[in-house]
Amino acid sequence: MIKIAPSILSADFSRLGEQVRTVEEAGAEILHIDVMDGHFVPNITIGSLVVKALRPHSKMFFDVHLMIEQPERYIQDFAEAGADHITVHLEATPHIHRAVQQIKSLGLSAGVAVNPATPLDGLKYILPELDMVLIMSVNPGFGGQKFIPAVLPKIEVLSKYLLQMQSSCQIEVDGGINAETARAVVKAGAGILVAGAAVFAQPDPSEAILKIRQASNG
Ligand code: DX5
Ligand code: ZN
Repeated sequence: MIKIAPSILSADFSRLGEQVRTVEEAGAEILHIDVMDGHFVPNITIGSLVVKALRPHSKMFFDVHLMIEQPERYIQDFAEAGADHITVHLEATPHIHRAVQQIKSLGLSAGVAVNPATPLDGLKYILPELDMVLIMSVNPGFGGQKFIPAVLPKIEVLSKYLLQMQSSCQIEVDGGINAETARAVVKAGAGILVAGAAVFAQPDPSEAILKIRQASNG
C-alpha cells in the first residue's frame, strides 16, 4: 500500500491549519514538513514552532525532513514539538550514526536522506538502524522543481537490497512527484511519495491526492 505524504512547503501558510485538515480528510497518511536553514540549502523555511502549532490539530504521522547542517542541534526540539519521524541528510553531518541514534533514543522513527548525486554507499553500515531512506528526486531547497529521472535506478538498487536483507525499512521519494512521475517511482520500489506542488498548488488538493494515488497504483 503506497502512502502519500503532502509537503506543506507549497501550502498557503496564511491558512496552514485548514490546508492540513484538507489533506488529512483526503486520506493522506503522512504530513511531510520541510525544514531548511539557508546553509545546507539556499532557502529558509520553518522551525519546530510550526510543528508544535500544528500538532494538536492533526493525527497524521508528522514526517520532519531536516535540510539543515549539523541536524543534531535541533533533533530534540522537533521531537518535543511533536514529530513522529525525523529524517536527516547524509551530507549534512559527519556523525550520521550519532544523529540517527539521537532520533531513536527519543522514541521516534528515523530516516536518512540522500541528494540526487549522492551514492547509496554511505548508507551501508547505517541501513539496519533506519526506518526510512529518503531518496531526493530534486536538489533540495525548493518546491515545484522537475523530477530527476536519473534517481530511478538508485531507487531500484536500494529496493532490491532491502528485499534481500528482508528489511522493513521504507523508501520515500521526494521532489517532482505528480500523477505523471508517481508510477515510475513506485515501480522502482518507493513506498512513500512526497508531493508538494502537485497537491497544494492545485485548485483541489483532495482530488490531486486521489490522482497521485490512482497513478501510483498503475
Ligand atoms: C524539496 C523538499 C520537498 C518539496 C517537494 O527540497 O524537500 O519536500 O516540498 O516539493 P515538490 O513536490 O513540489 O517537488
Ligand atoms: Zn522534503
